[in-house]
Amino acid sequence: MTAETAAPSVQIRANFPVRRMDFSFADTGKYWWSGNPFMTQFMNNLSSLFPYGEKFFVDSVRGVREEIKDPQLQKDISAFIGQEAMHSKEHATYNEYAEAYNIDLHTLELRIKVLMEWVTKITTKKMRVAATCALEHFTATMAEQLLIREDINMQMTDPRMYKLWMWHAIEENEHKSVAYDVYQAIGGGYWLRTSTMLLTTILFLGVIAWFQVDLLRKDGQLFNWKSWKYGLKTLFGPRNGYITGLIKPYLQYYKPGFHPAQQDTRTLEKTWRAKLGFTN
Ligand SMILES: [Fe+2]
Ligand SMILES: [Fe+2]
Repeated sequence: MTAETAAPSVQIRANFPVRRMDFSFADTGKYWWSGNPFMTQFMNNLSSLFPYGEKFFVDSVRGVREEIKDPQLQKDISAFIGQEAMHSKEHATYNEYAEAYNIDLHTLELRIKVLMEWVTKITTKKMRVAATCALEHFTATMAEQLLIREDINMQMTDPRMYKLWMWHAIEENEHKSVAYDVYQAIGGGYWLRTSTMLLTTILFLGVIAWFQVDLLRKDGQLFNWKSWKYGLKTLFGPRNGYITGLIKPYLQYYKPGFHPAQQDTRTLEKTWRAKLGFTN
């Protein structure tokens, strides 16, 4: 009898799935966030960043993929690319919906395209992965807040928009470690990671402020103080503001030894998958 036995073939699977979605916003009203122009435009603002922003994430990770030896991480990269590509696609549909209300998200999308092309021109591959890690930390922490804060997410009064944003929020948490693991695998260090986060933050907040004023102005809502008051309270309220709650997790990124998985969101993701009726 031979001592040799066949090794069991282990099928490696990604740690999270790619879900095919196909949203339609044909019946969605203009101010779908509780009838509030400021918050609706804030979400429109974020949505305008995704088609080319998420393409940048995918391109950055793809650019260094051949350096990754770990088969599990390779599988997760594939699923990450699949999820982000689906987000880009569905937010492009969202952005088309906005056109029906003369909200021009296409111009904003193209500004992001130009910005990302410029960033790509002046940076190295490793820097772009560092920028992706920084932005993925933003998306993951913003998404986690949205999942936790029922008082905020219930303000999304349109069921289609609610499902789109909550689906996206689940997946941002599911894949939040992938870009970071890639960064570490290609030898990315602390200083590049944190200095990139600092620059990315300035750029990210600057773009959001610019787009927000632009969207409100074009919509004739720039001087709607009641709408501003509601929006600013929702975002920056000292105790319960959505963005106020992001400050602490944001600062954690600057800790040496930080890793996105230190914030365990698996139970939260599981709860929300069940809530949205996802079987995987
Ligand atoms: Fe995404
Ligand atoms: Fe992401």
